[in-house]
Amino acid sequence: MSNDSKTVAVLGAGTMGSGIATVMARAGHQTILFDINEANLQRGIDTVRGFFDKSVKLGKLDADAGHAAKNGLVGTTDLTDLASCDVIVEAVFEDLQLKKDTFGRLDEIVSESTLFHTNTSTLSVTGIASGSRLPERVVGTHYCNPAPLMKLVEVADGRHTADWAHKATIEFLGSLGKTSVVTQDRPGFIVNRFLIPWENSCIHALEAGRGTKESIDAAVLGSLGHPMGPFRLLDIVGMDIHQQVATRLYEQLRDPKFFPPPMVERMVAAGDLGRKTGRGFYDYDDTRLFGS
Ligand SMILES: NC(=O)c1ccc[n+]([C@@H]2O[C@H](COP(=O)([O-])OP(=O)(O)OC[C@H]3O[C@@H](n4cnc5c(N)ncnc54)[C@H](O)[C@@H]3O)[C@@H](O)[C@H]2O)c1
Repeated sequence: MSNDSKTVAVLGAGTMGSGIATVMARAGHQTILFDINEANLQRGIDTVRGFFDKSVKLGKLDADAGHAAKNGLVGTTDLTDLASCDVIVEAVFEDLQLKKDTFGRLDEIVSESTLFHTNTSTLSVTGIASGSRLPERVVGTHYCNPAPLMKLVEVADGRHTADWAHKATIEFLGSLGKTSVVTQDRPGFIVNRFLIPWENSCIHALEAGRGTKESIDAAVLGSLGHPMGPFRLLDIVGMDIHQQVATRLYEQLRDPKFFPPPMVERMVAAGDLGRKTGRGFYDYDDTRLFGS
């Protein structure tokens, strides 16, 4: 597979799907964003377009490139529109059966050379790949959030991933300007095995009154050099997603440091999920998923 402009699709227009679609359109690939939910699809497209507008305004992207990137993105709720895709990344809900079924349905629509990527955080790539009659084409590609800003993608092969699919994946991620780190098909890959306990410990610190959300964020920015503090990051990740990932990792690894602190359950119950609901640790007027 060469690095020329390709036709690519992202399934799921949520936090990750819209971020990954931004990365692909910015790299010059014809990008289709697919969601089963019209409202989520529209919000995803608005988020991507808003990100490009802001990048132009800030001088990070020239106006022509911003225009081209916006024109390179289309949305659809019809899976058959993905028939000519070279690469498809799924970023739908973290549900094994849903991800398996999604790849199984795509088998009937796309050619045998189409690469399937899964952005799962906690599920087995091998298990997801078993939903396709060609599991050799399936590769785990775990993007860091926010995808347009973070360079790293963890790459995990399933048990039946073919060499050609692995190599084409690394090449494709290079075309997106991403840095690939190859890891094993294990729960949490590399990053979430240390990120989730660290985020939990920041929430515990807040619960215990060791600092305010602002002071803990400021402490992390000023000491560790992270691009944003833990509570700003959790608001982008989504508290529902943090709860789900932390719980799944706890269930699989049986290590209490993964277990989500009580504040997480209360915030999820209240609907304070972060950017996507306009309120998390902080309040937001703009419920686009990232970018301002
Ligand atoms: N949020 C993060 O920080 C993060 C980071 C890395 C990986 N992930 C993983 O990425 C995936 C998506 O997470 P998210 O945070 O973007 O979730 P999200 O809830 O923000 O978005 C999920 C989207 O998938 C859509 N969807 C559901 N079923 C679908 C289907 N059958 N076809 C198409 N779209 C469908 C929903 O309508 C929704 O818009 C999950 O597997 C998650 O574990 C999340």
